[in-house]
Amino acid sequence: MNIAIVGTGYVGLVTGTCFAETGANVYCVDTNKEKIEALKKGIIPIYEPGLEDMVLRNVKAERLHFTTSLEECLDKVTIVFCAVGTPPNEDGSADLSYVLDVARTIGSCMNQYVLVVTKSTVPVGTAKKVKAAIHEELEKRGCSIEFDVASNPEFLKEGNAISDFMTPDRVVVGVESDKAKELMTKLYRPFLLNNFRVIFMDIPSAEMTKYAANSMLATRISFMNDIANLCELVGADVNMVRSGIGSDSRIGRKFLYPGCGYGGSCFPKDVKALIKTAEENGYSMRVLKMVEEVNEAQKDILFRKLQKYYNGNLEGKTIAMWGLAFKPETDDMREAPALVLIKKLKEAGCQIRAYDPAAMEEAKRRVGDTIYYARDMYDALLDADALLMVTEWKEFRLPAWGVIKKTMKAPVIFDGRNIYDGNELNDLGFVYHCIGK
Ligand code: UDX
Repeated sequence: MNIAIVGTGYVGLVTGTCFAETGANVYCVDTNKEKIEALKKGIIPIYEPGLEDMVLRNVKAERLHFTTSLEECLDKVTIVFCAVGTPPNEDGSADLSYVLDVARTIGSCMNQYVLVVTKSTVPVGTAKKVKAAIHEELEKRGCSIEFDVASNPEFLKEGNAISDFMTPDRVVVGVESDKAKELMTKLYRPFLLNNFRVIFMDIPSAEMTKYAANSMLATRISFMNDIANLCELVGADVNMVRSGIGSDSRIGRKFLYPGCGYGGSCFPKDVKALIKTAEENGYSMRVLKMVEEVNEAQKDILFRKLQKYYNGNLEGKTIAMWGLAFKPETDDMREAPALVLIKKLKEAGCQIRAYDPAAMEEAKRRVGDTIYYARDMYDALLDADALLMVTEWKEFRLPAWGVIKKTMKAPVIFDGRNIYDGNELNDLGFVYHCIGK
């Protein structure tokens, strides 16, 4: 099976590499020359556990190729996956220009049947636009070459992407022809060994599934953040409530963790895009609008707690931050709560000492030298008036409390991910605040 993946961002690179791992011959295409040259040498532009080894192994086996030219590989492949970015426009809608550029290139260069599969998260109706763009280009050339479009949304999580791709709960595929269904069945057959299901459906439903899934997960988080905030006011413990409700199989245990807000490339963008799609269709997604509002407020909850603790006087305080990435096991800071916290702390006149195991370079790119980049997690605590635990990396879970107490100016901890035992810390002489207790 010969396939091309256009776009070597997060989804594209993981998808291409994992398909190569199953034996497919994969061409990963990107217009960014430097990125492609680096990838050829095995230099991976993102931090994702396990990915580098898998890329190197498959490049060596000559099943994984990197190129800047989609034109050149079109004659060699039967399926083209489109995994290019769909960044949000200012009004929250998804910018489809990259997706449609790919469609036009395919239409203007194809010489034989090709199945064009959208993997980028795209609004309902995009496959139709892709189809129209290909047709238009073929018409310009006076050709009538057969092709199909399909939708195969991706559900992988950053930091766990390889395992999510190789052993997914399900694969959703939207098709409109038997040939496309056959090709996708064949491509995903190696994964059937893991007993998972490929769910075939019509294309608009597949496109909608991705947004509905992410929006549902974001809703759970905002709901739990609201419950957590209320728990604080009524003297309940959200951890108990979470266990209590999560054991109901209709609710389930996952994605019920309150914290300092969700971030990343998907939830914020997809929630906005679904609200926008609804508006364009004369409907209002009332629940999702509140999901967004609750999340925005939650991103500065640690700041508000800190401000309250110091009676509104944060001028000149030194604040340590553990974690900058939007979640552990990634260097991604898109929509990260840490960015909101940094902004608020700076405005309040604080000095910030930050540490993240993977996102230091990314942070430098985003906030420059406005904060101090600590050598390690303990260096971040030097003379600190408080520690904000923002991202729950494993190495932050069992720190040397004795060292911490000696290093900080005031032993005050605000735990934005509820990873510490408050009783233990109080016994050790720390002031401890978390979310929802
Ligand atoms: C998400 C979806 O999980 C994935 O299926 C989709 O393909 C892309 O979007 P990702 O953004 O990589 O994946 O991260 P995820 O692990 O889902 O976490 C998203 C955010 O939610 C993080 O900021 C995380 O801290 C937060 N979160 C998650 C919570 O606050 N509470 C939870 O219980 C779970």
